[in-house]
Amino acid sequence: MLTIGSVPVNPPLILAPMAGVTDRDFRLIIKRIGGVGIVTMEFISSKAIVQGNQRTRELMHFAEEERPLSIQIYGSDVDTMVEAARIVEELGPDLCDINMGCPANRVLKGCAGASLMGDLPLAERMVREVGKALTIPLTVKFRLGIRDNEKTYLELGRICEANGVAAVAMHARTAKQGFSGGADWSEIARLKEILSIPVLGNGDVRSADDALAMIERTGCDGVMIGRAATRNPWIFRQIAATMEGSKLTDPTTGDRRDLILEHFRMIAEREPPRFALHKLRKFTGWYTHGLPHGAKLRRRINDLPDVEAFLDAVEEFFEELLLREAA
Ligand SMILES: Cc1cc2nc3c(=O)[nH]c(=O)nc-3n(C[C@H](O)[C@H](O)[C@H](O)COP(=O)(O)O)c2cc1C
Repeated sequence: MLTIGSVPVNPPLILAPMAGVTDRDFRLIIKRIGGVGIVTMEFISSKAIVQGNQRTRELMHFAEEERPLSIQIYGSDVDTMVEAARIVEELGPDLCDINMGCPANRVLKGCAGASLMGDLPLAERMVREVGKALTIPLTVKFRLGIRDNEKTYLELGRICEANGVAAVAMHARTAKQGFSGGADWSEIARLKEILSIPVLGNGDVRSADDALAMIERTGCDGVMIGRAATRNPWIFRQIAATMEGSKLTDPTTGDRRDLILEHFRMIAEREPPRFALHKLRKFTGWYTHGLPHGAKLRRRINDLPDVEAFLDAVEEFFEELLLREAA
């Protein structure tokens, strides 16, 4: 069984951190469906943590039911990262992760995220000092490097291992690639070859077959999944079942409706109306991707004035879909 430090990760499947997506409600939905070994929060600014920003504090709330859970932090200043890591540890997560892979311009300009892959001495100092400040295991998530001719992931992997990092996760694209092209899993295999700490492979896993193929081709110890979970939150359970040699049937329209409504009621209850509508629209787009007449619902929800009207429209959509299926 995969363990990260002393934390068991069973099954070895990890929900990738996704800003604006992997909030508490989404993590709970994924966790309740099952099959996930660790859930991760979206990246949190070390500066905002240290400054005691209220919204940041709220972002870091989690439920016991979510465990094991990892909180990911980012920043470029080692002292701020150390202080943020101490505050994070007090909140009681199972793991703390440093983001060294974010390619967003605003993060790169602040010399955090993937730009640390271009300054390995700074990355090393950060990993060493943050690691010293924590008693829970530290992990690091990175990409291949900043650009094609500057792939530094092997050196960074070695730095992590030498400085007591408990596991690394790698999204097998460069920062310059963003999400274009394909993730190059052969680079995950190369990283795995040189490290003895667990390597979590990440990038373009869209199905149970993909997950198994990634493990087979790279030897990675765990598989991290991001975008596919937004369209198919059942993916972890499907992979876990496939790993055990059984095959799950696809969720029915009824399952899909129940899940969406459960998630949307959580959003409606907890979020201020302005944020709630924005989130509901975003998740409707993902959750109805590929469903018959999903585009019609997506057009309709653009004009709905409030959360109640929104929930009614979603219920109506599924009622019609179920009636059509029964006809
Ligand atoms: C909307 C969105 C937000 C993301 N936010 C983060 C983040 O906060 N921290 C991070 O390390 N990676 C972030 N990522 C990258 C994912 O964790 C993951 O590495 C990437 O999506 C590739 O995996 P996938 O092909 O399974 O989606 C984000 C990706 C998306 C699509």
